[in-house]
Amino acid sequence: MDIQNKIVVITGVSKGIGYYTAKALLEKGAIVFGLGRNNNDIEHLNFHFINCDVRNFDLVESAFKEVFLKTDNQIHILLNNAGLGYFGFLEDTTLEQWHEIFETNVNGVFYCCKMVLPVMKKNQYGHIINIASTAALEGMPQVSVYCASKWALKGLSESLYREVRDFRIKVTCIYPGSIKTDFFRNSPNIKPHDYMLMPEDVAQNIIQILNMPDNFHTTNLEIRPLQPKGPTK
Ligand SMILES: NC(=O)c1ccc[n+]([C@@H]2O[C@H](COP(=O)([O-])OP(=O)(O)OC[C@H]3O[C@@H](n4cnc5c(N)ncnc54)[C@H](OP(=O)(O)O)[C@@H]3O)[C@@H](O)[C@H]2O)c1
Repeated sequence: MDIQNKIVVITGVSKGIGYYTAKALLEKGAIVFGLGRNNNDIEHLNFHFINCDVRNFDLVESAFKEVFLKTDNQIHILLNNAGLGYFGFLEDTTLEQWHEIFETNVNGVFYCCKMVLPVMKKNQYGHIINIASTAALEGMPQVSVYCASKWALKGLSESLYREVRDFRIKVTCIYPGSIKTDFFRNSPNIKPHDYMLMPEDVAQNIIQILNMPDNFHTTNLEIRPLQPKGPTK
């Protein structure tokens, strides 16, 4: 896909992967709509922020109506990035934390996909990228609720790509290991460090996936830091 002039929606653009991917896509000439609770410092003619908590379907629906109004019913790329985790023993997880994780990491993705798919199907063109986690690939102690949400996202992504490929719509699910972002603010045992993946590099990886020819479909992509704890020798 040639990224120039493509219309992109990214959820969660205030920081981290969403922020750096918005910047990278704007540099490539895309038109970027950032849906989120908080804006960022990007000042670019082609960047449009729409206030939206992805947990709320009414807000998601009205955000996409605004996008479609401004773009004459066009959308080429959806990056489902907004997400969070709380970590600890399952019995210590509060109901509020469970609901916040699932409403953001799972419901939010469902809501956004539900809004873009009729338009992408009609246009016979589109690419949905979901940011899961290596926590979607293996169970981890004290990560059970976050793992469960990302396993749900894996199931949704793998089913959806088979459902929409004949409409020339790609669905890619990315499974990153640890990335140096604010994500670890709720994790008492892990502090971000320089041996993690850098969000700028994850953004470039997303650009590479989008740049592949129309017939090339990256369905699942696992990415990890080479030495997540630093050199051991
Ligand atoms: N960092 C890692 O190690 C890692 C590894 C694997 C996967 N991931 C996944 O990568 C994605 C991005 O995380 P990150 O590392 O970039 O973390 P981050 O720096 O904490 O960024 C998360 C983004 O999601 C937004 N967000 C959270 N809840 C939202 C909501 N209800 N509505 C709208 N936006 C919301 C945040 O915006 P606000 O300003 O509104 O909070 C923020 O922009 C997440 O899905 C995360 O699960 C991260």
